[in-house]
Amino acid sequence: MWVNWDPVQAERGGYEHFMLKEIHEQPQAVRDTLSGRINRSGDGVLLDGVHLDPEWVRGLRSVYLVACGTAYHAGLIGGRLIERLAGIPVWNEVASEFRSRDPLIDERTLFVAISQSGETADTLSALREARRRGARILAVTNVVGSSVAREADDVVYTWAGPEIAVASTKAYTTQVVALALLALRLAEITGHTGEQERRDLLEALRFLSEALEQALELEEDVRAIGERTRTWRDAFFIGRGLDYFSALEGQLKLKEISYIHAEAYPAGELKHGTLALIEPGTPVIALMTQPDQREKMISNIEEVRARGADVLLIARQDLAGVDRHAQTTLMLPAVHPLLMPVVAAVPLQLLAYYAAVTRGADVDKPRNLAKSVTVE
Ligand code: G6P
Repeated sequence: MWVNWDPVQAERGGYEHFMLKEIHEQPQAVRDTLSGRINRSGDGVLLDGVHLDPEWVRGLRSVYLVACGTAYHAGLIGGRLIERLAGIPVWNEVASEFRSRDPLIDERTLFVAISQSGETADTLSALREARRRGARILAVTNVVGSSVAREADDVVYTWAGPEIAVASTKAYTTQVVALALLALRLAEITGHTGEQERRDLLEALRFLSEALEQALELEEDVRAIGERTRTWRDAFFIGRGLDYFSALEGQLKLKEISYIHAEAYPAGELKHGTLALIEPGTPVIALMTQPDQREKMISNIEEVRARGADVLLIARQDLAGVDRHAQTTLMLPAVHPLLMPVVAAVPLQLLAYYAAVTRGADVDKPRNLAKSVTVE
């Protein structure tokens, strides 16, 4: 008997593409990123590589989160968590734009550089500029000993393992988890969030991998939706609050690997522009994972439905009755609202993946893009 041994296929662990393998590795990657970082009593975060002086943290004027591409989207979510849990004002900026704003940075600033590779030129330049202005530098990166890690004062590693596909998946979800840990650490110091709320979130983090496993069970449904993307020309992603950030990441993923034009909008902004582009049959991907945004999101979905949009709703499963507002619904396992973006990432990644496969695109190496961009 002959067995055809294909080393590349073996490296992909039997998956058709690295991207699909990496999507499936997320429960483990999140488990690894959390490993050893929650204390035994479940009320505190342990981050070995972070040495923040509590007095200094209490006097912080702002936290800047700076990154490119997918890492920037993780930063948007992390920034919202830091502001909400630690009560410190946050600025998010795309690294290539950072220097153009003459940022108000000094010794009372924590500058967080987020980079999977730790080698992205724009992120490194921004980091150096922040350093010149006196900020303390904290890196969130996946590569031990990378330039960003070496130049930082503090490092939180994402233990995602090597990410080969150009489109980032497990690096993104682990970045959000790492930033949630950082937000909780800062919150412990500032006391802005009470102990019970911090405990609840830490408990929710411990169950996050299981929720990701459940979200991966949506794969067959998403594969079927992927087939429908054959006729898509433009797609719109909408959401409110944290769901808007997930929408941004969902549209980027779809664009970069399937080459379908996509745009994300805060759902409340629709009527200030994008609504003009909705025609009968236009695909709209609506995210609804935040219980406090339920009613407003339903009315935004009705607005696009009234113009004939074909709505794919991605909702937290306990938001009863929301499915009747859309033609197609994917239900996500319910976790703490602040962690829903991690779970919501899974169907969005799978949608991009199956759209790219359906349309015959080179999933792991999309045209014109590189895994790590080392020029400004
Ligand atoms: C490139 C990649 C993206 C990535 C971005 C930032 O554009 O194609 O997937 O998000 O760089 O990379 P980094 O390594 O800094 O996270």
